[in-house]
Amino acid sequence: MGKKRILSGMRPTGKLHLGHYVGALENWINLQEEYNNYHLIADYHVLTTNLDTSEIKTNTIEMVIDWLAAGLNPEKSPIFRQSKIKEHTELFLLFSMLITKARLERNPTVKEQVRSLNIENITFGHLGYPVLQSADILLYKGDAVPVGEDQVPHVEIAREIARKFNNQYGKVFPEPEALLTKFARLPGLDGNAKMSKSLNNTILLSDKPETVVQKLRKAVTDPQKIRKNDPGRPEVCLVFTYQKRFNPEETSEIETGCRSGALGCVECKLKCSAKINEFLQPIIDKRAYYESRLSEVQDILADGEARASETAKATMDEVHKAMRFG
Ligand code: TRP
Repeated sequence: MGKKRILSGMRPTGKLHLGHYVGALENWINLQEEYNNYHLIADYHVLTTNLDTSEIKTNTIEMVIDWLAAGLNPEKSPIFRQSKIKEHTELFLLFSMLITKARLERNPTVKEQVRSLNIENITFGHLGYPVLQSADILLYKGDAVPVGEDQVPHVEIAREIARKFNNQYGKVFPEPEALLTKFARLPGLDGNAKMSKSLNNTILLSDKPETVVQKLRKAVTDPQKIRKNDPGRPEVCLVFTYQKRFNPEETSEIETGCRSGALGCVECKLKCSAKINEFLQPIIDKRAYYESRLSEVQDILADGEARASETAKATMDEVHKAMRFG
């Protein structure tokens, strides 16, 4: 038995932030040794909520640079665009026959998107995006998919489709498992539960040290801690969540200091930005390397796409045989 396979994917929406790192990328990097990883750039998936493709190229390149800068190793694990491997669309078509419209309408993540984006009439493609995602995963026979909580319903759909296909045509696909990230969520600087580009509450992996200091200075803390010596409640403070993640050695001291009032928010935030900057520095250095070697980034994609394509073709051969398309 060879190593198990992982398929991980992300939509290219530009530069990545710490929430992406903590919620996904870090997990991908750690899994590189243990599994064979495939890293998908879900560029077609962007269309489900945004038809404007004017920035798709830059957003893709920025994301790939962040992936590489954070430590994905393209020699071990191919990095490729969904739009460059035609088999995704083909498998998507076949899979769309194996799932009902009612089942897709029950998907809580899609429902939530419809609600939050105020979509009145969902497109066929948007409703079906978990089917495209299933094709993404199963084309590479992914055994596992590292995702956040919100993507679990899609992985469940991939399992159902794999089961249905295998029962109908004979076993071709594994039933992929969701690998949940330990530290799934990092709150935004405004106190929102999630860091998100659209909420403008992020720290980017590419932010300069002084930007991080400025951003944290403005971060929301415990609203009851108004003056330096007021006692604070670390459990409601997003900066404390950042401390736990980026400054674990000092957490208990910070917690005591905050609760007693001895530690003020200004000082706490400075400690926190220093730690975040320490963490980001190697990423920023590596980013600078790739920014000045864009053709190397293009080569990495071309190489990843050639390798992904081989796997995708082999799976589609099996699919065609199983379905007797010859
Ligand atoms: N749907 C995912 C998102 O919105 C992106 C994605 C597309 C994906 N294909 C995938 C994630 C396959 C994991 C596996 O973020």
